[in-house]
Amino acid sequence: MDSTRIGVIGSNMMDLISRIERMPVMGETIPARSFDMGYGGKGCNQAVAAAKLGADVVMVTKVGDDLFGPGVIDNLRSNGIDTRYVTTAAGHHSGVAPIFVDDAGENAILIIKDANDCLSAEDIDAAAPDLRTCDVLLLQLELSVETVYHCIDAARAWGVPLILNPAPFMPIDRQYLVGVDYLIPNEHELALLVDRPLYGRSELETAAVELREHTGKTVIVTVGVQGSLLVEEDRCQWVPPLLVPTVDTTGAGDAFIGSFAVFLCQFQDVLHSMTLANAYAAFSTMRVGTQKSFLTNEEWQKRYSQYE
Ligand code: RIB
Repeated sequence: MDSTRIGVIGSNMMDLISRIERMPVMGETIPARSFDMGYGGKGCNQAVAAAKLGADVVMVTKVGDDLFGPGVIDNLRSNGIDTRYVTTAAGHHSGVAPIFVDDAGENAILIIKDANDCLSAEDIDAAAPDLRTCDVLLLQLELSVETVYHCIDAARAWGVPLILNPAPFMPIDRQYLVGVDYLIPNEHELALLVDRPLYGRSELETAAVELREHTGKTVIVTVGVQGSLLVEEDRCQWVPPLLVPTVDTTGAGDAFIGSFAVFLCQFQDVLHSMTLANAYAAFSTMRVGTQKSFLTNEEWQKRYSQYE
């Protein structure tokens, strides 16, 4: 696996996680069951999932010059991730994400991007010598839209396959979606991308096919306990989920994407990689937290062999 090189351009956040019985309504104060902190951010989560599975990962992200910044960098290093392109935004806070997880394991997340919004085109260009040698690049939307556009243009110019996880949703110029190789939204992001609510499997399929037609790219929709949906030119196919006892779904989408990138490089087979990524993501929901719920390669091999 040491030959799989993955570049991640994305966010880091300090996750501030409260376990709650239910969401408070506006104006209400309710006690939470517990509180925990952990390293998160969709970019770093995907990088950590890939690194835990044994990939050689280079991360491009921006921390703040505050209490959290050094910890974010140490955490990436302790996961074996190359942090040469992790820089600090003077006068800014590191990203933080208050997260609420209910008794069913479902979550609601706020993000305060701050330093992440300072990641610039120049930061991407500085990392170009390493990024252009990667097997695949991962990008999400917790950065400024200008930086996202620059990354898409750069990946095309370098000829490196790009996976875009359009999360959290922000409006993206269609012409840029054409520049990515794999588009991986969840069902909520898909609904926002096609600009209408989607009810049931057939509406999801229609919307995914529409997105495929507009972009010409491979579309994969992650749909939680329903598994994932692949739409390519000649096929529209569901990949069933692996059902497990769930305690916390936070970061499951990131576990899917980080692991999918590794499996795709390893097996060069999209459907097989989705099957494995469904399982890797499902296993992450059996433990609490985001990155700390992701399995190492050894844990993954052992657990998956019990389900095969
Ligand atoms: O996808 C989960 C992540 O979203 C959390 O780690 C949080 O930081 C937000 O970025």
